[in-house]
Amino acid sequence: MADRNDIDFTYSLTDRVIRLSLGELADFSGAKYDGDFSLSLEQAQRRKHDYVAEQIGIGPGRRLLDLGCGWGPLLAYIRERGGVGVGVTLSSAQLEACRRHGLDVHLHDAREVTRERFGAFDAVASLGAFEHFCSPEDFEAGRQEQIYSDLFANVAGLLPDAGRFYLQTMVFGRNMIPRDQIDTEALRALPPKGSDAWLIALLGRQFPGSWLPFGKEQVAACAQPHFRLVSAVSGRLDYIETISQWNARIGARSFKKSLLKLRLLPRWLTSADFRLAFTSGVSANQLCFQRELLDHYRLVFEKCGSPEASAGVA
Ligand SMILES: C[S@@+](CC[C@H](N)C(=O)[O-])C[C@H]1O[C@@H](n2cnc3c(N)ncnc32)[C@H](O)[C@@H]1O
Repeated sequence: MADRNDIDFTYSLTDRVIRLSLGELADFSGAKYDGDFSLSLEQAQRRKHDYVAEQIGIGPGRRLLDLGCGWGPLLAYIRERGGVGVGVTLSSAQLEACRRHGLDVHLHDAREVTRERFGAFDAVASLGAFEHFCSPEDFEAGRQEQIYSDLFANVAGLLPDAGRFYLQTMVFGRNMIPRDQIDTEALRALPPKGSDAWLIALLGRQFPGSWLPFGKEQVAACAQPHFRLVSAVSGRLDYIETISQWNARIGARSFKKSLLKLRLLPRWLTSADFRLAFTSGVSANQLCFQRELLDHYRLVFEKCGSPEASAGVA
């Protein structure tokens, strides 16, 4: 799993630049254009939240959990709709930013949220965090599926029968290097520039401690026996557009942003990983989506009733 240091590297170092570029409640997961790229980024992010609301039910009287809540965009939407939202993140900067906006957010591992600690929920959402739950080391050690299964079991423990879990995640795509040919040592050493493996290695620098599921099938298999998959929609093309919009906003010059970037200069000078992660001049995740090394899914799960309950209904 990506630990707190890894998550701080990805999200806390750049916290102020991201908030200045994308707004205080920065929405940092793929937006929902449904192929209509005349929409603004903000409209497409709103459409995503409306979709989540439609799928899991967001509104007055509903208590919802956001696993990996980022800067709190979904929690703010839940509040706006009269619901009660609780979020967890591993980024200290995100925690502070969310709390400044009066959001109920905790520095807590999403994989270990229990009913005893947080109470019960009507529904759970997680957008863009599942990508961090398994590390390359976990994958190498054969722990990937167990990690996902444990997460689903935990989430099931928070929900009533038929409760829903909206899960939005990147996955490895159909052109990913075959599983049995992946050489994680070579990825660490940096493969030839421009190759598929090089792009995957760059992603590894930007998101240390993170490794992706092999397609939505692997995720759906791990969700059993607790959840059935209700729907799965690819958001790959929408994500390519989202990243273009992010890059334009983050790249737009401003005096304040230049000062913030200057403060990161010591990191840039002393850390090769930092340079590769943030200043390689290549948008690795966008290219990976274009080459279909990556795909992206909006998955809706429904908790299966206990066998006793089903027997009772029958
Ligand atoms: C790409 S951001 C997505 C943020 C937000 N869901 C959104 O849509 O804007 C990933 C988030 O997952 C969180 N995260 C990753 N691993 C986590 C873990 N094990 N426990 C809690 N949060 C985690 C990060 O802290 C970050 O907030």
